Amino acid sequence: MVPRAPAGYKRAHMKLRTVPAAAASRGPLTFVLVPDGALPEVGAPLRGALAAAKATGDLATGARKVSLFHQPAKAALRRLGCVGLGDRKKVDTEALRRAAAVAQAAAERQGTKDFALVVPAAACAGVDAEAAGRAIAEGLVLGAYVYEPPRQQKPKPRAGQQCRIAVDGAPKRDERAFTRGVELGRIAAEATVFARDLENQPSNIATPTALAQAARRLAGGRVKVKVLDRAAMERLGMGALLGVARGSAEPPKFLVLEYRARGKTTKNACVIGKGLTFDTGGISIKPAGKMDEMRYDMCGAGAVLGFFHALAHGALGDHEPKHNLIGLVAAAENMPGHNAQKPGDVVRAMDGHTIEVLNTDAEGRLVLADAICYAKKFHDPAVMVDLATLTGAVVVALGHEMAGIMGNDQKTIDALIAAGKQADEPLWQLPLWDCHRDQMKSKFADLANINSPAHGNGSTAGGAFLSYFAGDTPWAHLDIAGAAYGGLHKDYYKGGAAGTAVRTLLHWARTL
Ligand code: BES
Ligand code: MN
Ligand code: ZN
Repeated sequence: MVPRAPAGYKRAHMKLRTVPAAAASRGPLTFVLVPDGALPEVGAPLRGALAAAKATGDLATGARKVSLFHQPAKAALRRLGCVGLGDRKKVDTEALRRAAAVAQAAAERQGTKDFALVVPAAACAGVDAEAAGRAIAEGLVLGAYVYEPPRQQKPKPRAGQQCRIAVDGAPKRDERAFTRGVELGRIAAEATVFARDLENQPSNIATPTALAQAARRLAGGRVKVKVLDRAAMERLGMGALLGVARGSAEPPKFLVLEYRARGKTTKNACVIGKGLTFDTGGISIKPAGKMDEMRYDMCGAGAVLGFFHALAHGALGDHEPKHNLIGLVAAAENMPGHNAQKPGDVVRAMDGHTIEVLNTDAEGRLVLADAICYAKKFHDPAVMVDLATLTGAVVVALGHEMAGIMGNDQKTIDALIAAGKQADEPLWQLPLWDCHRDQMKSKFADLANINSPAHGNGSTAGGAFLSYFAGDTPWAHLDIAGAAYGGLHKDYYKGGAAGTAVRTLLHWARTL
């Protein structure tokens, strides 16, 4: 019996509460967001404290700058913290999210477990109140996230933090919208943290079986979960997915999550994730450098599981989707082994398409092909989205700060781009033309899983391959190979897995 591999430790919790501004201006430490120029309108006693802080000449208002001011001995507020917002005309959701994360980090540095954050309505006049509340909650919860790796010495458990949040100077209606935003942002961010935790675990922990267990734990209430094992996949004829899994001792799993809309709708929207818990490349093996990063090859699955974590916790608020939401995850490990598929092997996908596997490292599109077939056969989707760390080429084209999107339906693509904008997770459309589809034809099967290197286009070839399985069902493909990990650090993201696209999917789901 092999000893159980060590898992990372659970991170500390961040508790959020929205309170009236007066209740946020007492206690050991209260942060206020302060833009350049005239001090923003806030109520007493903060107004006086802020004016006094400015009079010292030490108040820094540049974006993300922190200044701390001790308060007079008898004041109900012990310390005032100011987090700069910079130019108030440029304050947007991303600026608020970062400012909140900066406040969280400053509170943690100070060793203050219970702190408050006051958002002057005047400091973010250009941002919708609900969106502001969301961004603030996301910044606090995502900023508090750290992946604690397993070590001989368990880390001292980090004390959980608590933040009282208030919007100051907003009309009642905006105050309510802000409060709603905080709650939805909290749910979205905790779901993102859940995704990050799965994504950051090494591949001997986060196996397909572990992903299936994580999915099962989301079942209950309005979420149903089903797991197909290898035998079930064999019965369905998922030859493309099973071909990828052949080389590994880790059994593949196919996860089906369902969120039933309350109405009588029979329409379904499918969200499909690539769940390669490790991608060695298989027989077309990858070079050794940075191969460890292929633990992140399940980040599409992470996005889908995070999305369902959020749905299970009420992320849609009182928005009732007109579609049932179906999550599908194709989880497998891509290994070279005596049983592994080999370049030139021909496999058959569930819908009958035959595929020549010219490169065993183009495995994501193989597992997704069967997942798309499954979606179409059992859920007859009105719309499908797949998310996958599909190509290194998308990192070359777009880097880590955005994901590529392509598909067969401009309306679906536009809706996702808009959702990405709201989440501050940008998507950039790549073409998917007939010339790209033509590149995927094979002499020895219906399709080849790669185009010729001479064609040059890597990411659109992946999309073009998938388009044969999508057929004329409205579909979009997000290539998140860059966005999933390795991006710029930005206060609410400090490296490793980003938990990307969970929040984008939530914004998109609200349009369904
Ligand atoms: N998982 C990789 C894509 C990837 C590469 C993700 C780098 C993140 C960082 C995928 O399975 C893959 O290996 N794609 C190949 C496709 C090629 C063989 C056509 C690639 O991008 O090299
Ligand atoms: Mn690969
Ligand atoms: Zn891969």
